[in-house]
Amino acid sequence: MSPLATETRTAPASIPQGPHPEGLAPVLRCRKLTKRFGGLVAVDQVDFDVYPGETVALLGDNGAGKSTLIQTVAGVHRPDGGSIELDGKEVEIRSPLQARDLGIETVFQDLALCDNLGAAENIFLGRELPGKAYRFLPGLNEARMRSEAKSVLSELHINIRNLDAPVRTLSGGQRQATAIARAVYWKARLMIMDEPTAALGVPEQKKVLSLIEALKARGVPVIVISHNMQDVFEVADRLFIMRRGRAVADLRAADTNANEVVRLMVG
Ligand SMILES: Nc1ncnc2c1ncn2[C@@H]1O[C@H](COP(=O)(O)OP(=O)(O)O)[C@@H](O)[C@H]1O
Ligand SMILES: [Mg+2]
Repeated sequence: MSPLATETRTAPASIPQGPHPEGLAPVLRCRKLTKRFGGLVAVDQVDFDVYPGETVALLGDNGAGKSTLIQTVAGVHRPDGGSIELDGKEVEIRSPLQARDLGIETVFQDLALCDNLGAAENIFLGRELPGKAYRFLPGLNEARMRSEAKSVLSELHINIRNLDAPVRTLSGGQRQATAIARAVYWKARLMIMDEPTAALGVPEQKKVLSLIEALKARGVPVIVISHNMQDVFEVADRLFIMRRGRAVADLRAADTNANEVVRLMVG
């Protein structure tokens, strides 16, 4: 399949089909999304869709604009142009907190978790049960949050012995797993992961990949940035390739291979 320039994406015949049935509405639809840093156009009029239950790998050389694109979707950056729709409704995402309220969960290096809190508290961060009563009946609700946290972690076969241990003391893989458990527990609309396996040892990488599959099995679409081609082809249904801020290709994983992807990345 030939790479698809953004300019030609409006020609229906040449739009590559994702793994979704014809006509399924995208969960995320970005149109002409643009983000500048001073004179630099980090994300240049990018059209990017994500459909229910698919895993999309976002690929490109260093500086291609991958992180900026997803951070714009995650409310870290405000776009300078274009639009973002969630389930067909245009949204303005002003902050990472608001992104979470809209059902966008993220795993970035720093942003995802509160380091000084435990795994259970992180799962319920900002959404403590059952609201106001929490302040007056901490014992009761803490018990329930802990048991709910325990059950979602065990459902995902995530092993964290001490749910109260500050997550900064957990391994990288356990931290990722905590963020993924949070996305599963709250039925995230969209999960975004920037280089989730980059800092992990091999067993933990495998665990994160299996958790991506678990998210997918629950219908949560995942956007994952990764430099690891093997990981990419293991989990991704679709590959979206950027170069110097622009979208250059949007391919089904089954229709391409690592060599072609690298060629597209470097241009
Ligand atoms: N906060 C920022 N301020 C200024 N320039 C930035 C900032 N973040 C990213 N950039 C620049 O935007 C471009 C895209 O960066 P980035 O989105 O991090 O690329 P990628 O994640 O694909 O490696 C790069 O040239 C980078 O230097
Ligand atoms: Mg990046």
